[in-house]
Amino acid sequence: MANLGEVLPTDDVVNPNIEILQSVHSKSLDSPEKFWANVAEDLYWSEKSGPIFEKLEKPPFGRWFSRWKTNICYNSLDRHATTWRKNKIAYYWEGEDGTSRAITFGQLFREVCKFAAALRRLGVKKGDRVTIYLPMIPELPVAMLATLRLGAIHSVIFAGFTAQAVADRVNDSASKIIITSDGAYRRGKVIKLKPVVDEALKQTTSVERVIVVKRAGNDISMEEGRDIWYDDAIREQQSDFPSAEMVEGIHPSYILYTSGTTGKPKGATHSSGGYMLWVYYTQKVVFDVNDQDVYWCAADIGWVTGHSYIVYGPLLTGTTSVLYEGAPDFPHPGRWWQIIEKYGVTILYTSPTAIRSHMKFGEEWARKHDLSSIRLLGTVGEPINPEAWKWYFSNIGRGMTPIVDTWWQTETGGIMISPQPGISMIALKPGSATFPLPGVDAEVLTESGEKARPMEKGYLVIKKPWPGQFMTLWNDPERFSSVYFSKYPGLYYPGDYALKDRDGYFWLLGRADEVLKVAGHRIGTIELEDALISHASVAESAVIGKSDAIKMQVPVAFVVLRPGFKASKELRIELLNHIRNTIGPIAVPDAIYFVDKLPKTRSGKIMRRVVGALVEERPIGDVTTLEDESSVDDARRAYEELKNEIEAYRDES
Ligand code: WTA
Repeated sequence: MANLGEVLPTDDVVNPNIEILQSVHSKSLDSPEKFWANVAEDLYWSEKSGPIFEKLEKPPFGRWFSRWKTNICYNSLDRHATTWRKNKIAYYWEGEDGTSRAITFGQLFREVCKFAAALRRLGVKKGDRVTIYLPMIPELPVAMLATLRLGAIHSVIFAGFTAQAVADRVNDSASKIIITSDGAYRRGKVIKLKPVVDEALKQTTSVERVIVVKRAGNDISMEEGRDIWYDDAIREQQSDFPSAEMVEGIHPSYILYTSGTTGKPKGATHSSGGYMLWVYYTQKVVFDVNDQDVYWCAADIGWVTGHSYIVYGPLLTGTTSVLYEGAPDFPHPGRWWQIIEKYGVTILYTSPTAIRSHMKFGEEWARKHDLSSIRLLGTVGEPINPEAWKWYFSNIGRGMTPIVDTWWQTETGGIMISPQPGISMIALKPGSATFPLPGVDAEVLTESGEKARPMEKGYLVIKKPWPGQFMTLWNDPERFSSVYFSKYPGLYYPGDYALKDRDGYFWLLGRADEVLKVAGHRIGTIELEDALISHASVAESAVIGKSDAIKMQVPVAFVVLRPGFKASKELRIELLNHIRNTIGPIAVPDAIYFVDKLPKTRSGKIMRRVVGALVEERPIGDVTTLEDESSVDDARRAYEELKNEIEAYRDES
């Protein structure tokens, strides 16, 4: 969490350019039609009929470009491949094993057309769902773009998820096709992907065909009639390139599943018109990209950051980017800095967790390389602590380059609160994302809905619809309304704590709900509890987040066993493996504590506050509503007893 002690006093800030920002911001809110029409001019629309924005009575209270027609793939590729940018590099792809490929906009365009033709031949048409489960190889953006070219809807699943997670997402979206690879490289090892898909398919009925990219060369089985190699699928295509299907602005472009406050992941569904405009605009305003830049967003395409700022933002703006397959510390902790030197990267966008890992490895790794090409740095995914900000600024930015701390979410489609060097540079404060972008009417409210005073911690809200806003949750419009639009009726509630300082700067202070941020990834505590309870030995569980110096938070689980089961080191390992196999390695708890009972309120709600206080070694506070106060002692006793055992367990593993 950001350190409030670091919020700078008013007198320290000299902001000659702030008026420019404020005037652009007011224009965007006063006449949104005019403002966004101007931005929309940069992009291609096959039809521009009807208003840009329409108010709706129900959530999300507005929609954009509903009767305009466009295609995101067309705007990302065709628009550039027919100009001088045809020979400009779209991606410098760097494989973990040291192989690399430079792909021009023209080449990417041809590859996407070939694959779109293959998908069409396999029966994919407008509105169909296509699941993509691939590592960070060029075929991943190719598959996404080819899907959108046909007006179909992609659902990308992070390649670290398990068969169960894949099956749940495939079933919810009723996908017809899955695109995967034989395997993936991670830290020199081969991770098998196709067998995960085979396993998931045992629990699904909608999938007709599986397309397999050859990447790691591991042995896999191919099912006759269902599975087809990517290379064979595109080889059969000669010159029959499908033109891009022009779709309505509100036609869904993709579904991306993200964790929420219940066990079931939510399928955030994005539009075509508004989403496209938003990532295009934010890529320009926040990263100030131009044709000389080599931009690198070091995220994974499996998360929204990769969708918006590795694939669509850079391609829509015709920017050259780096696409890196592997881990930041493989084969040595200097790998990232080596890549920056190799390609002359000018803009680097990453997460505070990654920065803290590099701090731990030591700045000597960065010093071995020439990083003088860098002119702008960015962060996303969690609040950045001022120490990490300063390390990043001094060691990677050479004490010269601005840092854009960008606040946004899967649901917002793109960046919402951030410095805006593409409009006007203002004084930065380490740990503050500064100001809302044009079109974003953000405010901080108290619990009762009043505007919070300066420095008063409250809840962030967005008061008006913005173009990049997600349209709904796939298959779940009711949950869409209740999760996001009911805390403050009519306003969008992102689920984050925030405050504004005396200069009006926004400070985002972490999640206000039961969602954890572990190394920048969203993990629902209830999703984890459900996974634990699905094990035969577990009667009840409470999962909470524990502060962590590198990952910001790690999940910690308290478990009550069913009669007949006894706490043991073996059972703990079994439960950890159970989480690894049901959700995936990113969700594996840092510790599991066995207790006799969990602290609950009189109405039976688990008091996570109490459990959390124990883990953080904070005073427990008011527990008068506890049903049975002895359960606090229980939890405390279990915690003390297990502390040493857990240390020992960690050493062993
Ligand atoms: C958190 C990632 C503070 C926040 C793009 C939000 C941040 C959640 C920041 C969304 C930031 C993201 N400062 N907190 N700059 N950026 N967050 O959907 O809690 O994976 O609600 O999207 O990350 O996570 P998601």
